[in-house]
Amino acid sequence: MSYKKNITRYSIALAITALTVSTQSLQAQDKSSLKKVFAKDFGIGTAMSAAQIEERDPKANAVILQHFNMATPENIMKAEIIHPQWDVYNFDLADKMIAYGQKNKIKINGHTLIWHSQLPAFARNIKSVDSFRTFFTNHINTVAGRYKGKIFSWDVVNEALNEDGTMRKSIFLNRLGDDFVTEAFRLAAIASPKTELYYNDYNNEQPAKRAGCIALMKKIQDAGVRIDGVGIQGHWHVGKVPFKDIEESILQYAAMGLKVMFTELDIEVLPRSFQGADVNQRVASNPALNPYKEGLPDSVQQQLASDYENLFKLFLKHKDKVTRVTFWGVNDGQSWLNDWPVRGRTNYPLLFDREFNPKPAYYKVIDTKK
Ligand code: G3I
Repeated sequence: MSYKKNITRYSIALAITALTVSTQSLQAQDKSSLKKVFAKDFGIGTAMSAAQIEERDPKANAVILQHFNMATPENIMKAEIIHPQWDVYNFDLADKMIAYGQKNKIKINGHTLIWHSQLPAFARNIKSVDSFRTFFTNHINTVAGRYKGKIFSWDVVNEALNEDGTMRKSIFLNRLGDDFVTEAFRLAAIASPKTELYYNDYNNEQPAKRAGCIALMKKIQDAGVRIDGVGIQGHWHVGKVPFKDIEESILQYAAMGLKVMFTELDIEVLPRSFQGADVNQRVASNPALNPYKEGLPDSVQQQLASDYENLFKLFLKHKDKVTRVTFWGVNDGQSWLNDWPVRGRTNYPLLFDREFNPKPAYYKVIDTKK
C-alpha cells in the first residue's frame, strides 16, 4: 500500500475517533444540563447582567445556553434604567434581552414593573398624587405594553411588604394608598393580556410575612383582577434554610390557585446577622466579615451542597405546584452578595464557581433526579 493511501486511512480513522469522542462528551454534557435534567419538573432560570445580555462574556454565555431555559434581567428592566425621565424610555437592553430569549428559546421574566427601589430620581421627587398616578399608569402601560406578546411573565409588584406582613411605607403606598398593588395588576393585565403576572418578595416564606402576602394576593383576587403566581425570592443562609416554612408556603400559596416560583435563589455563606434582601440595609466592611477570601472550607462547601440538595428534593416533591426555580446569577463571581450587605467580599452562593465550573452543590442538585 502506498504511503499516500496509508496517510488517508490514518486521517479517516482519526476523524472517526474524534467524532466519537465529541459525541460522547456531548452526551455527557447533555446529561449534566440543569434544564434537561429538570425538563419535566419545572423551568430553570438565571438572572442575567447587562454584559451577559449583550453576549460579551463567552464563558457565561455557554453556561447560560447549556443550563437555563428561563431568565430574568438582574437590573436593566428596573424603572431607573428603562424609564430614566418623565417622557424618556431606554429600551435598548430590554429589547436585546427579549431578542436573546427568542433566539435561544429562553422564556423571559420581566423584572420588575413596580418597586420602591431603583426608582428614577424624577419619580422619587414627584409630590403631587395626580402626577405620581400618571407616572405609575404610564410606566406600566408603556413598559408592559411594549413587550406584549413577547415576554413570558412579569414581576408586576416587588417587595411591597414589611417583615411583619404589613404594607411597606414606600412612595407607592404613600402617594397611592394600599390599592396600588391591585391597580398595578389591573393595568398590567390590560397592557399585556397573555403574560403571566406575579407578586415577588423575599422572606415571604416566613409565617408573618407570608400571612401578609396571602392577604395581599387575596385582595387582588377578590377584586376580580388576574394574578397568576407568587415569587419567593429565596435569599437564604447556609445551614439555616427554613425548609419547613418553605414547604408550608408552597402549600398555602398553591391552595390559592397560584403558581409558586423560587425567583432569586442563592445561599449566603458569609457572616450576616439577618436574613433577607433589603438593599437599603448595609453593614460596614471588616476583615472578620470576609473570612473565605482564599477559598471556601470544605465543611462549608459540603453544607452548601447539602442545603441545595434538600431544597431541590423539596421542589421536586411539589413539582406540581412549583413552576420555576431561578438562580440569582450565573456564577459566584457575578453574585450581588459579593457587595451586599458588606461591599467587596468573596462569596460563594451559587452552583457555578468563578471559573464557571460546577461546584459540589451542582452535582448534588443533579443527583436528586437519580
Ligand atoms: O450601573 C451602575 C454603575 O454605572 C456604577 O458605576 C456602579 C457603582 O456602584 O453601580 C452600578 O449600579 C449597580 C447595579 O446593581 C448594577 O450593577 C448598583 O450600584 C447596585 O446597587 C445594583 O445592585 C442591584 C440591586 O438589586 C439594587 O437594587 C443588584 O445588582 C441586583 O442583584 C439586586 O437585585 C435585587 C432584585 O432586583 C430584587 N430582590 C433583591 C435582589 C437583591 O438585592
